[in-house]
Amino acid sequence: MDIEDIKAQIDSEIQNISSPEKLEDFRVRFLGRKGIIAELTGSIPSLPAQERSSFGQQVNLLKNKILSLIEEKQKSLGISQQGLTGSAYDIGMPGIAQELGRLHPLTQTIDEICSIFNSMGFSVVEGPEIETEENNFTGLNIPLEHPSRDVFDTFYIGLPTSKKLLLRSHTSPMQVRVMKAHKPPLAVVVPGRVYRPDAVDASHSFMFHQIEGIMVDKGIKFSDLKGTLEEFAKSVFGGEIKMRFRPHFFPFTEPSAEVDISCIICKGRGCSVCGRKGWLEILGSGMIHPNVFKHAGLDPKVYTGFAFGLGIERIAMLKYGINDIRLFFENDLRFLKQF
Ligand code: PHE
Repeated sequence: MDIEDIKAQIDSEIQNISSPEKLEDFRVRFLGRKGIIAELTGSIPSLPAQERSSFGQQVNLLKNKILSLIEEKQKSLGISQQGLTGSAYDIGMPGIAQELGRLHPLTQTIDEICSIFNSMGFSVVEGPEIETEENNFTGLNIPLEHPSRDVFDTFYIGLPTSKKLLLRSHTSPMQVRVMKAHKPPLAVVVPGRVYRPDAVDASHSFMFHQIEGIMVDKGIKFSDLKGTLEEFAKSVFGGEIKMRFRPHFFPFTEPSAEVDISCIICKGRGCSVCGRKGWLEILGSGMIHPNVFKHAGLDPKVYTGFAFGLGIERIAMLKYGINDIRLFFENDLRFLKQF
């Protein structure tokens, strides 16, 4: 084919191209491996020697012309070199998926419990995990030689200070801090971590979470404690559960009680979760001991109050049917994604 004819053909064809697909067909037909330019180049060796060089030059010019026509056409069709619209972004390329995070099941349980108490007028406060021995024990009517220190005997921080510091073994030291810092009426709940020298197994951990609650005013009675805890338990576990208060001993409350709910698994008939008892212990509670008031600078003849402390892991395990406390702390996404 004559080069001039080809030029004329190109000029008329390019006019009529209106889509990227047609432009690609055109490119392949002229510039492709078996295209017209390749064919012309391939014919050069068979030409008479004196024509080869000028023919070669013409083919090159033709090739450059086609390239620039294609480039112009690409611009007018809105395609860039990479076959993309407008910019260097490939809008068709799959993105990097962002995994949506979520709150840890313990955080969710803390939030839920705090909001229940909040709706009953309790404020939420937090306290330090490193406490003085005074607040963790003596201020709570647990003197140095008291046998009930044993279960609480915790991790001491070896600082050369006059005050002995330790990792708090319960959230109860916040009773002392709150009562020293604020005058009654008081109603607060305190979520936080606590530490005990317990061997780790399916139901024990050297670190776990509690929520402490206290209410102090003139004329607070045991029935206020009962009503408050019943409202809490029914909000978390449902209106049909039953509650019972079992007499117990805590040095910082008098009288003291442990609180059980009817087993949410077997509805009180007896199963392996409740140890065939039909009841599940969920917290410790009682009326604040006069010695605790005195220590905090409040007159026990004027004020009365109640306190309670509950283990958050235990509540979360019962609520979600989790059978091993260690699952909370292993950070296995297969576990955490279920909440
Ligand atoms: N501090 C107690 C514990 O950790 C629980 C408790 C709190 C009991 C407040 C009575 C009153 O076991």
